[in-house]
Amino acid sequence: MNAITRLAAVISLASLFPLAATAADSKGTIEVTHWWTSAGESAAMDVLRNQVKADGYTWKDNAVAGGGGAAAMTVLKSRAVSGNPPGAAQIKGPDIQEWSQLGLLSEDALDGVAKDEGWAKLLSPTVVKIVQYDGHYVAVPFNIHRVNWLWINPEAFKKAGIDKAPTTLDELFAAADKLKAAGIIPIAHGDQPWQNSTVFEDIVLAVMGPEGYHKAFVELDNATLTGPKMAESFAALKKLAGYMDPNRGGQDWNQATAQVIQGKAGMQAMGDWAKSEWSTAKKVPGKDFQCVPFPGTAGSYTYNVDSLAMFKVKDEGTVAAQKDVAKIALGTHFQTVFNQNKGSIPVRNDIDMSQFDSCAQASKKDFDAASAKGGAQPSMAHNMATNLAVQGAVFDVVTNFINDKNADPAAAAKQLGNAIKSAQ
Ligand code: GAL
Repeated sequence: MNAITRLAAVISLASLFPLAATAADSKGTIEVTHWWTSAGESAAMDVLRNQVKADGYTWKDNAVAGGGGAAAMTVLKSRAVSGNPPGAAQIKGPDIQEWSQLGLLSEDALDGVAKDEGWAKLLSPTVVKIVQYDGHYVAVPFNIHRVNWLWINPEAFKKAGIDKAPTTLDELFAAADKLKAAGIIPIAHGDQPWQNSTVFEDIVLAVMGPEGYHKAFVELDNATLTGPKMAESFAALKKLAGYMDPNRGGQDWNQATAQVIQGKAGMQAMGDWAKSEWSTAKKVPGKDFQCVPFPGTAGSYTYNVDSLAMFKVKDEGTVAAQKDVAKIALGTHFQTVFNQNKGSIPVRNDIDMSQFDSCAQASKKDFDAASAKGGAQPSMAHNMATNLAVQGAVFDVVTNFINDKNADPAAAAKQLGNAIKSAQ
């Protein structure tokens, strides 16, 4: 049974006609399900919340903590099953198509705004494809995050006697050895399946390059998934995991970021939402921290586009609020301020990047360069490459592997191929 059938089986027809709350004193109410709860994420979300309120609408916040959004997706499914979905929800990548196929997303709330605001000219075709279903906009895109980053505390590097940021996996391991010898946790991390898979996809990109990555996580090519390069990637993951704090537990990504900010750890492999934590701690890139492509992946770019999908609702006030959110989200001001807070780059292609810091400027430059030569790839760990069933299969295999000291890399590659086959 594929993911759509599975989801369809649990969602009743009643969910096509959800109830929508209206506050008497506002133009309409919109409830928004999302997982932006860290300090930096929340500061970014405030930019939207405040503008929606200023426009006369009521914002009902349905924030579900948990990086990567697995917990939020569980809540969203149960809301849909009980016929009570929110007006908007953070849904990304191919998952948008699946919710649309169930008939749950609105196909007419956004098209008018998109036409009036000229979205077709402002957005890249890659992004338009993600947020449209059957030629209609069903979601509004916010940003482009780069996933394949490494965040470095230069002070920790100095203490450990490391004079330059690593650019290859071997240099990464060498830097990690020096940090360890200096009593500093080399890699900050939390054992959550999506964090494990974020690091794993970085390594696959380093080992196989963008073509191999594409074959594995976009085409789901069995020979690539089970082949020697995948085994090599698992072996590198095992080596890297050896440099993570053994007592890390399932800490959240932002707690791991805090360890690097405080100098307890030297590095973190994480997408650029991590930068929002450095920014809220008033740290400056190039001085207090360094952002470099994950070693071995310079020239490639794993992208992660955040978007809010709009649900089919009857209440006119909510529909008006959905349109308002869409209009705000792609406005020049919002694109600038939100993304400065979030750590991402604007999804609109006409924003002046001189207003952004050096990491964002590098991200934009690298995205454009990688896109021009096939090096820009959708992030598997962040719902951009596959549906959630396939992604879940990868998460399971990678997490079991990382937690089993005796796990064999070649066997893990075979398991990965099999798990993905049965999830399809
Ligand atoms: C990603 C999401 C980002 C960030 C991150 C950690 O999936 O796209 O915006 O929030 O999770 O929660």
